[in-house]
Amino acid sequence: MTSDPGAFDVWIAGLRKWHGWLQLSPERPYLHAEEEYNQYYGVNAPNPAEGEGCCNLLKSHGVDLTGPALEIGCGTGFLSFGFARHYPGPDYLITDPSPAFLRITHELFGPGFEGSSRRHFAILNADDLGLLPAGMFSVIALRSTLHHILNVEDFIAHCARSLRPGGALVMGAEPCETGYLLMASVAQSIPNALKAAGVEMRPAWTAKLEEFTSTVQFCCNRDVDKTNGEDKHFFNPHDLAQMGDAYGLKLVFLPTGSFQDFAPPYGNAFHCFSSFFLMYMQFCMRFDEEFMAQIRLHLQPQLKFIDDCYRAHAGPAISSIFLLRKHRETAD
Ligand SMILES: C[S@@+](CC[C@H](N)C(=O)[O-])C[C@H]1O[C@@H](n2cnc3c(N)ncnc32)[C@H](O)[C@@H]1O
Repeated sequence: MTSDPGAFDVWIAGLRKWHGWLQLSPERPYLHAEEEYNQYYGVNAPNPAEGEGCCNLLKSHGVDLTGPALEIGCGTGFLSFGFARHYPGPDYLITDPSPAFLRITHELFGPGFEGSSRRHFAILNADDLGLLPAGMFSVIALRSTLHHILNVEDFIAHCARSLRPGGALVMGAEPCETGYLLMASVAQSIPNALKAAGVEMRPAWTAKLEEFTSTVQFCCNRDVDKTNGEDKHFFNPHDLAQMGDAYGLKLVFLPTGSFQDFAPPYGNAFHCFSSFFLMYMQFCMRFDEEFMAQIRLHLQPQLKFIDDCYRAHAGPAISSIFLLRKHRETAD
């Protein structure tokens, strides 16, 4: 375990470099074209609120933010931009297995960028976390990345080892199995609802539905080889609390919330099941406009039923935050 302030610099200085990036793992491109990622998901600009909210969340839970932070799976920098601006610690190591994603994130930080921590960029696959020094990081942050990592338990064990006492592993926008299973069940009723309304399913719509429901099944299953799937898992708080306990980390579960909820204007981005379901089908599954219009019209009773069940509370967790804190007194 190291709390020597110079230890991070020494470690970074000893890392191998590849095309200007620090290299901890062999590079690996994303399944889809990195340059099209933002357009595909409707992301127009870096969102400072996401990283600011993440820092605020960590502060409000008393996490020690005095040491270096590590981000895993930065993608196009959706979390990185605001995190770099608001993280109070000395260093921020931004990583992804894909050099194209690292380049896109690196380009977000122009010369006038405000942020006090020094930024470093490395190619890192979460499967190689055993290479990280023990007790080095105050924070390990991920957004929408845990479900891409093959062996989640090994990952949590390695994070626990690399965290300083009082630090935390924070993971936002992670899919939860109850919410996704409910979305898939609703989605499976679409063909019958359309048929009852006299609307014929188009082959392209059937294919899109199949893509969604088979992905849900794949992520729910635990008895299949997930090596080659890009999205691999869904989570529940019970399992992550157990894994955390096994490695000295205590879980705080924030169901159906996003990091942005902890930054001004402090609105909860989640409104109800139906709004998340429709947003997901339109922007994440790319259902076409006409299919979406039919779903809005003919799935209304099912969606209203679920919203009515959860009028006064969030309902089944869909996309949630898992904060795993390392006890201050815990030695690694
Ligand atoms: C859905 S994207 C999320 C990107 C970004 N964090 C965001 O919130 O927009 C998943 C990211 O995880 C990265 N990733 C996939 N497998 C990984 C692994 N085994 N280790 C580390 N990162 C991984 C991908 O390259 C990609 O950047």
